[in-house]
Amino acid sequence: MRTQVAIVGAGPAGLLLSHLLRIQGIDCVVVEMRSREYCENRVRAGVLEQGTVDTLNEAGLGERMRNEGLVHHGIELLFDRRRHRIDMSKLTGGRAITVYGQHEVVRDLIAAADTHHHKLYFDVTDVSLHDVKTDHPSVRYTHDGVEHTIECDYVAGCDGFHGISRQAIPADVLRTYERVYPYAWLGILADAAPSCDELVYAHHERGFALFSMRSPTVTRLYLQCQPDENLDAWSDDRIWNELETRFENDVGWKPTRGKITQKSVTPMRSFVTEPMQYGRLFLAGDAAHIVPPTGAKGMNLAVADVRMLSRALAARYNESRDDLLDRYSADCLERVWRAEHFSYFMTNMLHPSFDDTPFVNRLKMSELKYVSSSEAAARALAENYVGLPFAPEPRVLGKAA
Ligand code: FAD
Ligand code: DHB
Repeated sequence: MRTQVAIVGAGPAGLLLSHLLRIQGIDCVVVEMRSREYCENRVRAGVLEQGTVDTLNEAGLGERMRNEGLVHHGIELLFDRRRHRIDMSKLTGGRAITVYGQHEVVRDLIAAADTHHHKLYFDVTDVSLHDVKTDHPSVRYTHDGVEHTIECDYVAGCDGFHGISRQAIPADVLRTYERVYPYAWLGILADAAPSCDELVYAHHERGFALFSMRSPTVTRLYLQCQPDENLDAWSDDRIWNELETRFENDVGWKPTRGKITQKSVTPMRSFVTEPMQYGRLFLAGDAAHIVPPTGAKGMNLAVADVRMLSRALAARYNESRDDLLDRYSADCLERVWRAEHFSYFMTNMLHPSFDDTPFVNRLKMSELKYVSSSEAAARALAENYVGLPFAPEPRVLGKAA
């Protein structure tokens, strides 16, 4: 099989890249090791930055998100048993976030791929990359017991943190930066109407808790826990009791209880790969970088990467320009490091850790009081949370650009 761009992985990064390339007239093939059902039902992130919403709308993928997504103009911080609202829209000139599950974005992307007959292969095995440092790279995989080779011009490694693409970059070229946090998140989905219109990030001496939602009838909640937490030790009652303790506040607000339909533990890690390109291999999304979820940046960074990569590939094919491809890694890493810092800052401020000294505890409380009382500090938090605007668009003469 021959294509222009071979894409490994059908998460948000790979699926959106495929769509953005197709609408600019660039041929591509996506190979994914999981089943379609698995990808469509994998519950993960939920907060879309303004730039992500704009990207999906511009690509003609926004209809269901506009109908079902919940637009939020602020968030709350809860500490010392008091709630403090950060008015993000007021502080950022009207920008907002949209709460819309990652798996809904993935479903919309797969539906669009079906409609436009994109080449998207699920349940593949033995994916391997070849000759990425040459002008004729290829991707090999097995599907239904038959081995296949995709000959291509470029390979996009969109296969997440545990994928194989990053390993194609030689160890003496690849630099990695990493921090593993001594805690994790226990996340639940519950059939319960959200009892608050906005997200609540709570700092409590027993640990962090987050109140979020997926729809007018589904609440999403998280509790800080041990990285090796045993889910069997968490009955539904224990989860609700712990949530109520950590969200305790002076006005008696609490999440409404309901049937818990999903439970999982998410580890917390910061990780960056430099460079994000090697020869004709371009890494995007979690394949290149991971953030702890506190800043809600993971999926948004994946979208920003593939937006950049699709523009760069369109410049190559439609204008014979390589400059954007040459700058891809450096351009992405600017945004990546800002998001890394913000996620690290939010994570440290909101999570007590067993190794915090009383001095560090006091610093965290001081920081929480500062961001909720100083307009300058609140604005810095808000502009990072809603997401920094994209750089002005390079002019690309594409078919549908
Ligand atoms: P992924 O979504 O990981 O997609 C990569 C795809 O590649 C997968 O479908 C995978 O099956 C496939 N793949 C892997 N290896 C191969 C291979 N060898 N061959 C073919 N295909 C392969 N972010 C938030 O902002 N908030 C959250 O609450 C949140 N929760 C998370 C919970 C978990 C458990 C995880 C892992 C991440 C979470 N994130 C969260 C981060 C966010 O979901 C990711 O940043 C986002 O999924 C990145 O998209 P991606 O397409 O780069 O990678
Ligand atoms: C959600 C996840 C996050 O990591 C976050 O910071 C806010 C909300 C969510 O899943 O809804």
